[in-house]
Amino acid sequence: MSVTLKRRFSVDEVVNTVSTMRKIKTYAVIGGTSGMGLGLAQRLVERGDRVLIGGRNAGRLEAAARKLGPLATARSVDIEDRASLTTFFAGQEELAGLFTPGTTYRTASFREADAETAESPFRAKFWGQYWAVHTALPYFARDAAIVLMSGAASVRPAGNPAYSACNAAIEGLARALAVELRPIRVNCLSLGPIDSNLWRNRDASIREPVFDSWRALALTGEVGTVDDAAGAALFLLDNGNMNGSTIYSDGGYTMR
Ligand SMILES: NC(=O)c1ccc[n+]([C@@H]2O[C@H](COP(=O)([O-])OP(=O)(O)OC[C@H]3O[C@@H](n4cnc5c(N)ncnc54)[C@H](OP(=O)(O)O)[C@@H]3O)[C@@H](O)[C@H]2O)c1
Repeated sequence: MSVTLKRRFSVDEVVNTVSTMRKIKTYAVIGGTSGMGLGLAQRLVERGDRVLIGGRNAGRLEAAARKLGPLATARSVDIEDRASLTTFFAGQEELAGLFTPGTTYRTASFREADAETAESPFRAKFWGQYWAVHTALPYFARDAAIVLMSGAASVRPAGNPAYSACNAAIEGLARALAVELRPIRVNCLSLGPIDSNLWRNRDASIREPVFDSWRALALTGEVGTVDDAAGAALFLLDNGNMNGSTIYSDGGYTMR
């Protein structure tokens, strides 16, 4: 007669058992509650890694944590606020990687932008990511990988000069950090238009004409997906020979 003993295993027991077979890593994603950040976090937990996700809105943090399951930890953070970055990373176990798509900024033309608007992309997207990496520095593993977020406006300006310059500066920052932080790898993901919540939350009467104009410009005739963006970020985290590079995941949008 055979007897089968059944008992529930805690997440930590399962993680500890699996980690004896494959080293489980932990990644931080600021902006991990929506769009491409959540898409990357989903891929990481699906392969058995842990994620620390951050964002400003408590409801979105809770919903994302529920969706990602027990391998995810969600903490509040505003990438523009250095004190909140310190709290976000405090006590964190060793990080194998960091992805920082979580920023909010305004754009306007050179003639129309007031100082607040003109400086907004640098304040939020450039300095936000700069200080996020700086704050996370003590927690990185020796072979960690960082993926910064820029955008196609770096090489294909669309009339918001401060925003274009900000994206180009972020791509330069990735190169400079790759040199200074080695052997930590630092790369940059530059996206063309992506059909994410950023656009889904806007009225179709605003979104669809913009998407149509982008489809006309992309060599693929398509707007990219969150999955495209998450896959490109994962590649930059994983590929040990990518360093100081910028990937343009844009369907050829920057070539027209
Ligand atoms: N979608 C595109 O077409 C596109 C193209 C090129 C580049 N990008 C870049 O990719 C980034 C992410 O885009 P997405 O389409 O994934 O947007 P999304 O779906 O709106 O997600 C943005 C994420 O960032 C978080 N976030 C926003 N501001 C933050 C802040 N100050 N501090 C911390 N977290 C913050 C949001 O949560 P909370 O709001 O709760 O904080 C959310 O988790 C954009 O900011 C942009 O720089 C997007």
